[in-house]
Parts: sequence; C-alpha cells; structure tokens
Amino acid sequence: MDRKVVVTGVAGLIGSHVANELLSLKLFKVIGIDDLSGGMEENLKPLIKKGMKFYKMDLRDTKKLKRILNSVETVYHLAAHAAEIKSLYNPIDDQSNNLGSFHSLMIACVYNQVRKVVFTSSMSVYGTQDQMPYTEEQECHPEDFYGITKYAVEQSLPIYQKVYGINYTIVRCHNVYGPGQNIGDPYRNVLAIWANMILRGKKPLVYGDGEQLRSFTHVDDCKNFIIECGYKFNGETFNIGNEEPISIKKACQLLCDAMGWEKGFEYAPRRPQEVKHAWSSSMKAVRTGYDWKVNFKAGISDFCHWILEHKPMKPKYDKQFEIEKNIPKQWKEKMI
Ligand SMILES: NC(=O)c1ccc[n+]([C@@H]2O[C@H](COP(=O)([O-])OP(=O)(O)OC[C@H]3O[C@@H](n4cnc5c(N)ncnc54)[C@H](O)[C@@H]3O)[C@@H](O)[C@H]2O)c1
Repeated sequence: MDRKVVVTGVAGLIGSHVANELLSLKLFKVIGIDDLSGGMEENLKPLIKKGMKFYKMDLRDTKKLKRILNSVETVYHLAAHAAEIKSLYNPIDDQSNNLGSFHSLMIACVYNQVRKVVFTSSMSVYGTQDQMPYTEEQECHPEDFYGITKYAVEQSLPIYQKVYGINYTIVRCHNVYGPGQNIGDPYRNVLAIWANMILRGKKPLVYGDGEQLRSFTHVDDCKNFIIECGYKFNGETFNIGNEEPISIKKACQLLCDAMGWEKGFEYAPRRPQEVKHAWSSSMKAVRTGYDWKVNFKAGISDFCHWILEHKPMKPKYDKQFEIEKNIPKQWKEKMI
C-alpha cells in the first residue's frame, strides 16, 4: 500500500466515516489530521486500530504539514469550524481557522505536488433564495461568515488549479447527521443538540415557528461519494444529500419519538440570519451514479440508537464571543 491519502477533520462526523471507509478499502495508507477543537476523540480509536496514522495538530502549522504530505496523492479536506450562526459572533476565528487552514494545506499540497483535493463545502453558500431546491447553477449569496469562508475556498480552488495544477472537486453537503456526531456542541447540528438536551432531561428548543423546511442527510449518504471524488471528476461542484424536505418541528417530534421522549419540545425566538427554507437538489450527482438511500425515519432511528448508548455531554460554550451584541438568548443564558 504505497498510495497515501490524507483526511483532515478526521475526528469529526464526516471525516471519521470517510477515513473508516478508506481504511476498509485497503488501497491506501490513510493519514488523519485533527486539532480536536471539534469532533469526538472517541471517533479516532477504531481508525487508529485499523492502521490510520493520526496527527493531532492545527492545519495552520504549514511547516509540519509540508512534512506530513510527503508523497500524498489525495487530500480530503473536511476540517472546519462549521457553525453558520455562531460565525456571526466569532468572525475572526471563523475566517482565520477556515481560510487559514485551507491555504496552509494548499501550500503544503503545492510543495508536495499533491494530485487532488476534495473539499467539503456547504449549502450555506447559497444563502436565502426563492428557487428551491438549490442547484449548482444558481448564483451563491452566502449570508453568514461561515458560508463566506466556504465560498472563498470554492473560489480559490480553481486558482490553485490554474497556477499550480492541483485538481479539485467540491462537494456541497447539507445537514449531515449520524453516529459519531459531537452532541456537546451547543452551536450547531440541531438534531445532536436536541438529542443531548433530551439526554439531559431538557425539552428540545425549536426556533421560530418550526415551519422552516430542511432536509437531513445521514452520513452514510455522503461518505462514498466524497471518497469517489478523490479519483473522479475535476473542477466540478456537486450538491449531495437527501432531498426529502421536512419541517423542523416534525423532525424534532420524530427525534423525540425515536428517543422515547414524551415531554415534547419548546419554541424559542427565531435566530438572526437563519435561512427560512433550505434544501438542495442532488440531481447532478445522481446523474453520475450517486444516490441517497437513508430516509429520515430510518436515519434518525440509527442515530438515536447510537445516542442512547452515550451519556449526556456538558455543552461546551465558548468563553468569549468576539461580538457580544445580539447573541441569541439561549446561548447567553446557556439554555441548551
Ligand atoms: N455536518 C454538516 O451538516 C455539514 C454540512 C455541510 C458541510 N459540512 C462540512 O463538512 C466538513 C465536516 O463536517 P463535520 O460535520 O464532520 O464537522 P465536525 O465539526 O464534526 O468535524 C470537523 C473537524 O475539523 C477539526 N478542525 C477544525 N479546525 C481545524 C484545524 N485548524 N486543524 C485541524 N483540525 C481542525 C475539528 O476538530 C473537527 O473534528 C466541514 O468542512 C463542514 O463545514 C458539514
């Protein structure tokens, strides 16, 4: 196994599943990188057992990355601080981490002549638009700083390709959930937040009127396509994920049912800049052979099965926001 691939953000939800699948293929030596600022440390143990070499490090350490990427052919870049609304209050961290780590990685890729980079972008690049579901042909109008960092990376990849010959594929995921998700993050992943609140005996919070439409994607419906992008396509962008929109309040009720929680949920004020309805079409990926298989009911049952094997987690709140003004009440008062 001389062929080496790198997965960044490997302790995270999607990264750990991608790395696990890559290890099962037994075609590559898999190197995982994560600074453990998010994700779950417990995701790493089975991967290391299967032979993954793990580096705990911040991707902005370019010098170290240059050494690690020696003779690597493909990089799956999944590491990010990925919280849309929180990015409005931590813009420096968001930009510095997500853009800084991307460019640091690309410098190391150029240095080592890495052949291909697969980047997980996000539906957040679309912002609020009337045309639903979002398709790849639509213009992008991100409405939060996280979405802007994702779009900036998307716009930078063709430049790295043109100037340095590094191929790339962009995969825009949406609302991914599944076993391995960090349930202790109070700022993102609504299903994980609700599940942890239930484990802690608290009623889950639904923002606004709960009529917002989203579609949720089980991680099993992302990992294989992301892996394939390592050796297929070049310069392409794909939406992937489930295309069954469901209201937030219905999703919450189904999660409560799957966890056997009978006390229901509570409503909380709508959050600033939250997009009302948002889901995207995966038809472009479907035409290349992609399909999503896990419907929401089956996926949520699998997720809750995993959750119920876990103890509740103490939510990890940031000590200080960079902007304190208009912080949602539920964060300020640590209601989650
Ligand atoms: N989960 C979703 O719903 C979703 C949707 C769209 C896009 N994405 C994107 O997919 C990728 C993976 O998402 P996820 O849900 O698995 O996120 P995650 O938070 O579970 O994993 C991200 C990992 O990146 C690591 N990381 C962050 N900054 C780092 C740095 N500077 N150096 C090293 N490691 C660093 C974190 O510690 C974490 O383990 C992210 O880029 C995210 O933006 C996720």
